[in-house]
Amino acid sequence: MKMWNFNSPKISYGRDSLEALENFSGKRALIITDEILSSLGYDELVLKKFERSEEILVKPKEPSKEEAVELSEKIREEEPEVLVALGGGSVIDLVKAARIISEVDIEPEEITPFTNLEELGFKGRNYFVAIPTTSGTGSEVTWAIVLRDEREKRKIIMANEKAIPDLAIVDPIFVEKLPKKLVVSTGFDALSHAIEAFLSTFSNPFSDALSLKAVEIIFKNFERSYEGDLEAREEMHVSATIAGLAFSNSQVGLVHALAHAFGAIFDVPHGEAIAAFLHPVLEFYKKKGVEKINEMSKYVGFDILKEVKRLSVRFGVKKIFELDFEGKINEIVKKTMEDSCIVTAPFVPGEEDLKGLLGEIACMREKS
Ligand SMILES: [Fe+2]
Repeated sequence: MKMWNFNSPKISYGRDSLEALENFSGKRALIITDEILSSLGYDELVLKKFERSEEILVKPKEPSKEEAVELSEKIREEEPEVLVALGGGSVIDLVKAARIISEVDIEPEEITPFTNLEELGFKGRNYFVAIPTTSGTGSEVTWAIVLRDEREKRKIIMANEKAIPDLAIVDPIFVEKLPKKLVVSTGFDALSHAIEAFLSTFSNPFSDALSLKAVEIIFKNFERSYEGDLEAREEMHVSATIAGLAFSNSQVGLVHALAHAFGAIFDVPHGEAIAAFLHPVLEFYKKKGVEKINEMSKYVGFDILKEVKRLSVRFGVKKIFELDFEGKINEIVKKTMEDSCIVTAPFVPGEEDLKGLLGEIACMREKS
């Protein structure tokens, strides 16, 4: 086995884990959240933990690189001792990128797994706390960052060890009132992280263990969480973080590459695109002889493919099928082939494979 590192922040989880902030109450904090979460009063729960704090509200949308640059300037001005990102993956990714470029003079797209940020002067001046308010992206524990490039209608996929927060607080209080639509889309995102991490060519014993546990918890709790069962919501919240750790230490694959391409072209939220692609891509992998799908089914004791299909039907996952994308197939294929997530797919498709897969998905739409 060649040398490998496993990366994770410190994680406080479970009911009342927000109390972990009390260790920093005397420090100067900057809290970044979005307007919707603020209107729900979630920011107050965090603000009151600090004696001195400032707040920045951002738009509840997947962030652009311009927004990351703008936020980096504010971080530089405020010089907080503690930087808190409170939100879904969008807010957390925005803060990850802004924090790095507040210290290092580079463009967001220069944040790659191979960029030596320490050499460029990065010191991690702000203690970085990420508090997820959805149960899906796992961004609170990952090294990945996704930003929008508005001009080129593409997603910029970045990753670096220094993007990993210092502390993730996974407190279920923030997902108790999560709308059902978000329970579904973010739940599928978490499920895809667990499955794609297991199938990835970079998978390893650490990520496999996390993938299998996350898949087990998600299948057991997804529907009950959708119905509003708070215990199931809590389980889903923890499993999303576990799945985040799995893929951050293994990578994802074609489901994410396609979802990034669609999200950039059609402005479809990440989780909705993932939900629509998960089953068709797993079918595609199976046809291409990806054995690890059977291995995963054997470990968890049920047919993964059948269960993903059942949940897709149960939750009415059709968003992508409703889009008229045939005219854009070449653009989707190009963007998918350029996406870094495709590199670790267990079967790397060629252009013709992708056209065939997208054609099949279009036919499914016509039949549905
Ligand atoms: Fe994802």
